[in-house]
Amino acid sequence: MIQMFHVYKNYEGSLTALSDITLKVDKGEFIFITGPSGAGKTTLLKLIFGTETPTEGQIIVDGRNQSRIDSKHIAYLRKKMGFVFQDFKLLPKRTVYENVALALEVMGIPPKDVKKSVLRALSYVGLRHRANYKPLTLSGGEQQRVAIARALVKEPTILLADEPTGNLDPDLAISIIDLFKDINIKGTTVVVATHDKMIIERANKRMIQIQRGRVVG
Ligand SMILES: Nc1ncnc2c1ncn2[C@@H]1O[C@H](COP(=O)(O)OP(=O)(O)O)[C@@H](O)[C@H]1O
Ligand SMILES: [Mg+2]
Repeated sequence: MIQMFHVYKNYEGSLTALSDITLKVDKGEFIFITGPSGAGKTTLLKLIFGTETPTEGQIIVDGRNQSRIDSKHIAYLRKKMGFVFQDFKLLPKRTVYENVALALEVMGIPPKDVKKSVLRALSYVGLRHRANYKPLTLSGGEQQRVAIARALVKEPTILLADEPTGNLDPDLAISIIDLFKDINIKGTTVVVATHDKMIIERANKRMIQIQRGRVVG
């Protein structure tokens, strides 16, 4: 489903963020990307998502080469992948419903279908009753679940999550990982970047460890 071959990423004016990354994630797999802060976890997810391009190397997502990106391809990828951002990136002036709906509206889905899908996604994460609230009136755990609903509403085949348990207490963190496991059981390939060892140990899934931009285990 996801393959990287000798991928390098240098940001302008900084050291190498990723060096010679070669990895493979199978369809339907659940994996963790782990490593200390600055290791390159977020960069790795962004390369898969296509919002950053590799300096060198090849990235194949669902049989398509990420380095040959055109606008049609980008639209295809956006539909295919959901991304749960570390800082949620919820729009504070929009309601929970509107935040989730936007993910479908930008894809040109008709309003009738949008409503059905959004309410289903919110129910799935247990937030149907928060549909008309503004994000900042919710707890951190609830905001995280809104961000997850927004990533899931387009029924992606790949779900990428960046430190999804970062700001949550352990019980909530476990419930978020359980949610990802459930999503994975339904067939979605899940890639979670985290430095939270407790979560990784408890989940018992494959883990790719990176340090200073290199795979070390
Ligand atoms: N947009 C950027 N511009 C320049 N350097 C960046 C940028 N994003 C990340 N980096 C650098 O790349 C390295 C890896 O960062 P990142 O992928 O965010 O690591 P992690 O998510 O594991 O903490 C760090 O040294 C970081 O400072
Ligand atoms: Mg990061």
